Amino acid sequence: MQLERATVLEHIPIHGGYNLLRMRAPGVAPRVRPGQFIHVKIPHLEECVLRRPFSVFRADGDALAILYKDVGKGTRTLQYLKAGETLSILGPLGHGFPDPNPAAYPIIVAGGYGMAALYLTARTAPVKGIAFFGGRAAKDILCVSDFEALGWTVRVTTEDGSLGRKGIVTDALDEWWLNESAGRAPELFACGPGGMLKAVAHRAIERGWTAWTSMDNSMGCGVGACLTCVLKVREGEGWTWARACREGPVFDARAVLWEEIE
Ligand SMILES: Cc1cc2nc3c(=O)[nH]c(=O)nc-3n(C[C@H](O)[C@H](O)[C@H](O)COP(=O)(O)OP(=O)(O)OC[C@H]3O[C@@H](n4cnc5c(N)ncnc54)[C@H](O)[C@@H]3O)c2cc1C
Ligand code: FES
Repeated sequence: MQLERATVLEHIPIHGGYNLLRMRAPGVAPRVRPGQFIHVKIPHLEECVLRRPFSVFRADGDALAILYKDVGKGTRTLQYLKAGETLSILGPLGHGFPDPNPAAYPIIVAGGYGMAALYLTARTAPVKGIAFFGGRAAKDILCVSDFEALGWTVRVTTEDGSLGRKGIVTDALDEWWLNESAGRAPELFACGPGGMLKAVAHRAIERGWTAWTSMDNSMGCGVGACLTCVLKVREGEGWTWARACREGPVFDARAVLWEEIE
């Protein structure tokens, strides 16, 4: 983990309120593992005391990129940052996705920025599998061409049917399981809204699949000190607290107490 002043290389709006922010961060970028995040101090906004966490989308040499959505005061202000300006980042943080098991068939299930958060996993996977992307509408679907360029098959589901299959992302996953899985043992990598993760986890547990879920709880310190981000995980016959920023954000789906997740 390193605290670094990164220099903005590129900052462009994508669609659906998302922006691509690429920065030079020689201290952090080369150390990033798939599924890790950086904690960003929002520049020019004194009232925004707490840093904001963002998954690393790409990490190439000295540069890294995030894909973020404007959802509140921090991300709205971040949008004004221009190429050449600097920002304070802390990272790489958290316990990301494990290396995919080469004997399993990798499946990615993503919603929202989860599509960006899973890109590095897709890139490093020795076997290119299938990625299920879900969103409300076409504007919520990101990175399809990035995944296809890596050799992944991408299946898109939108709730309004404006892109891909109409429905929710787990419908497409169920369809694959029924009609195309052909006895393959899948390993799932999932990042997205809590409801989606819960639905994926239930299927994985029921069917005996391995599933890794990124539990992106709201965070304060990002380094394990404040306990803002805790969730309940199984321990023996009981449970214990785990910090999403430290022991996570990625957890084995079997470890999480899903009944506690909204
Ligand atoms: C590990 C991790 C990785 C993340 N990666 C990304 C990413 O790659 N791209 C991206 O766009 N966002 C990502 N987020 C969410 C991002 O951190 C929040 O959107 C951001 O902190 C909001 O800051 P804000 O000041 O703009 O909003 P605020 O004014 O603080 O809040 C605005 C709204 O956003 C909601 N919000 C805040 N944090 C979260 C969160 N963690 N999850 C869901 N809703 C939240 C609040 O409840 C509120 O409704 C990630 C979060 C975590 C924990
Ligand atoms: S955010 Fe402070 S302990 Fe996780």
